[in-house]
Amino acid sequence: MTEYLRLDSAECTLILELPQGEAPLWRYWGLRLPDGVLPPQSLRETRPTPSFSPDFDQPLSVFPGCGAGWFGESALLAHRDVRDWSFQATQCRVEQADGSATVTVFDEVSQIEVIIGLTLNAVSNVLAIETKLTNQGNAPLNVQWLAAGVLPLPPDAAKVHSFGGRHNGEFVPVADQLSRSTWRRENRRGLTSHDRFPGALVEANGATYGAQLAWSGNHAQSIEWIDDGRFQWQFGEWLAPGEVRLAPGECLTTPELLATCAHDADRVAQNFHAAIRQRLTWPGGAMKPRPVHINTWEGFYFEHDEDALKDLADHAAALGIERFVLDDGWFHCRDDDSSSLGDWWPDARKYPNGLKPLTDHVTGLGMEFGLWIEPEMVNPDSELYRAHPEWALGVSGRAAVTARNQLVLDMRRAEVRSYLFDCVAALLRELPISYLKWDHNRDLIAAGDRAGYRDQVLGSYALMEQLRAEFPDVEIEACAGGGGRIDAGIVRHTHRFWTSDNIDAVSRLSIQRGFLQYFPPELMGAHVGASPAHATGRQQSMDFRAGVALPGHFGVELDVRTLGESDRAQLQHWISLYKTHRDRLHSGKVWRGEAGDGLYWQAHGEADNLLLLVYRIEPQSWRHAPLLKLPILDAKQRYHIDGTDYDGAWLISTGLPTKPLKAEQFLLIEVKAI
Ligand code: GLA
Repeated sequence: MTEYLRLDSAECTLILELPQGEAPLWRYWGLRLPDGVLPPQSLRETRPTPSFSPDFDQPLSVFPGCGAGWFGESALLAHRDVRDWSFQATQCRVEQADGSATVTVFDEVSQIEVIIGLTLNAVSNVLAIETKLTNQGNAPLNVQWLAAGVLPLPPDAAKVHSFGGRHNGEFVPVADQLSRSTWRRENRRGLTSHDRFPGALVEANGATYGAQLAWSGNHAQSIEWIDDGRFQWQFGEWLAPGEVRLAPGECLTTPELLATCAHDADRVAQNFHAAIRQRLTWPGGAMKPRPVHINTWEGFYFEHDEDALKDLADHAAALGIERFVLDDGWFHCRDDDSSSLGDWWPDARKYPNGLKPLTDHVTGLGMEFGLWIEPEMVNPDSELYRAHPEWALGVSGRAAVTARNQLVLDMRRAEVRSYLFDCVAALLRELPISYLKWDHNRDLIAAGDRAGYRDQVLGSYALMEQLRAEFPDVEIEACAGGGGRIDAGIVRHTHRFWTSDNIDAVSRLSIQRGFLQYFPPELMGAHVGASPAHATGRQQSMDFRAGVALPGHFGVELDVRTLGESDRAQLQHWISLYKTHRDRLHSGKVWRGEAGDGLYWQAHGEADNLLLLVYRIEPQSWRHAPLLKLPILDAKQRYHIDGTDYDGAWLISTGLPTKPLKAEQFLLIEVKAI
C-alpha cells in the first residue's frame, strides 16, 4: 500500500509519495485539490521503465541526489576529500504535524543526514521549506551546493518572470520562456543585489507559482526540465569554493524558501504579503501606523548645519510629518563620500554639542528621531581603518577594491561586531533615537582568504539581532544604495525597505509595482522628492509625486523650506490624506492592473472597501479614456463610487468610467460595497 503525505492550506495542496527508505517523491504542488483526493497508484506503477534507462526508476524527490540514477540537478554537491560525493537516501523518516512535515533522510554510504522542514501555512498559502544537513561522517565535508528547497513545476509551466535592475533602477521585469535549456539566475555580489532579486514567478496554464529565498547574500535558482515533462525548481545559497566545510557533527542550515501557488500574480503577491507580515517583529508586538518621514538626504546631502536642520524640523512638523531621519553626513569628519565610515560619533565641527540639541529639538516638536548608519563599511580614510586595517574584508596579497571609496568590514570577526554594537548602542543609549536607517552601499568582492559571504550575512543578522534585543523599541530600515538588500530574510530584523534611490515618480511606479509582488506596501519606503528629480532630471507635479508615494510607507525627501505656497499646501493635503487612509493601505490586499492605453491601477484594502489609485504616465492615445475593469470585485455585490451606485457584475465585465487624465496625473477613488 503506497503511503502519501498531503498538506493543505485554503488554496494550495502538496502531496508527497512516501516509498520505504527513500526520499519522498513529489506528486503534487499546486492549487487546492478537493478533500481526500490522492494519487490512485504509486508513480512508478504509472510509468514502465523506458528503453536505455536504469532498471530502478528515480523520479523527482524532495531531495534529489545523484547516487541512484537521478540525472537532473542534484540538491547536494559535496564531497569528503573527493570521496562521498554521491548522495542517495537509504533511510527516511517522515513526521507530520498540523500543516507541516519533517522529512529526515540519511545516506548510510556517505554518512550525510538531511532534514527538510515543510510547512504549508493555512492562512498565507505559503509553503516554507528549510533544509539542514549534518555531517555524520568522521571527516570534514565540503559543501558546494545545498538546495534550500526543490519544487516541482507542471509540464505546462511556460514562462518565468524575474527581475533585473541596477542602482536607481530596481525591479526591472524580465520574462523568459521556459524550454529544455536550464533557466538559471545566480547572484555573487555578496548581498541581495539590485539586479537579481532572489525570487521568480512561473506562469503555467491556469496557475501562477511564486518562490523567494529569504536570504540577504549570494543565491542561485534554476528551473530544469526533467524527463517526465515536469520541471524542477531549486533555490539555495550560491557558495564560493571552500566556503562551507563541515567538521564531523557540524551542520549547515539553508535559508528559508517561501513558495506559493495561486490563480494569478496578484494572488501570489497577496500570499507573500501575508507570509511576510507573519515574519515581521514589530516593537511592541504590532505595527503602529506608519509615520510620515522626512529624510534629509536629497535636501541636504553632506551639508549639515544644525540651525538649518532645526528649521527643517520646524517646517516638517508644521506639515504634519511625524519622523525626522538624519541621513549620511552627521558623523566624524564626513564631508563627502570619501571618508569616515566606521567613525560613528557626531562630527564636532557640525554638531559642537553632539546630536542632543537636534534630537531634543525634533522630539520636542512631537516627531520621532531616526539616524542613518552604515555599520558594515569602512573608508580607508577613517580613524577606524587607521587603527584596524586588518578588519577590512579582502584576500591577503590582493589589492583591496574600493567601491564608493569604501571597504567592507569582516563581520565574521567578533571584535568587529562588538565594536559596531558599542558604537551604535552608545548612540541609542544617549539619544532619543527610535529608528535606524541601516545602509550597505557596495557589493562584496573576494570576501576573505577563505570565502566568507555566508558568514558575512549571518554576522550582519547577528548584529541587528543583538541591537534589537537590547533596544526593542527601535525600528530598522534596510537600505543598500536604495533597494540592494530587499529580501524576505532581512525582514525578520527590519521594518522598512528603502525601495530605490530613484525617487522620480514615473520610475517609481514600476519599481514599486515590482516590489509589491513580494512585499507588502507598509514596508515600501516611498518618498516625495524634489522636482526635477535628482536621479533622472524629470519634473513632476507635487500631486503626482505624492500620489505615487501614497500607497507605501510615505515620506518626504526634499528641503520643504524651499517649497512655494501651493506645493506646500498640496503636500500638507497629501500628508493628511495619507494619515486618513494608511490603515486601509497597509493592512489589506493589493491588486495591480492595467486598463489599456497605458492606464495603470492599483487597489488596496479588501474587496468591499477599496482605495483605487489610477495612474497615467504617457498621454492618452484613445479618444476616450479606457474603462477600468475591476475583476477583484464581487459580481453579486453593489458598490458606491464617486456618488454613483454600480453592480459588481457591471464593473467586472464592463468597467468603471473615469475622467480622462493627462500624462503624469493620478486619481484616488474610493470603492465601497453597499
Ligand atoms: C545610499 C542610500 C541613500 C543615502 C545615501 C547616503 O545611497 O540609498 O538614501 O542614505 O546612501 O550616503
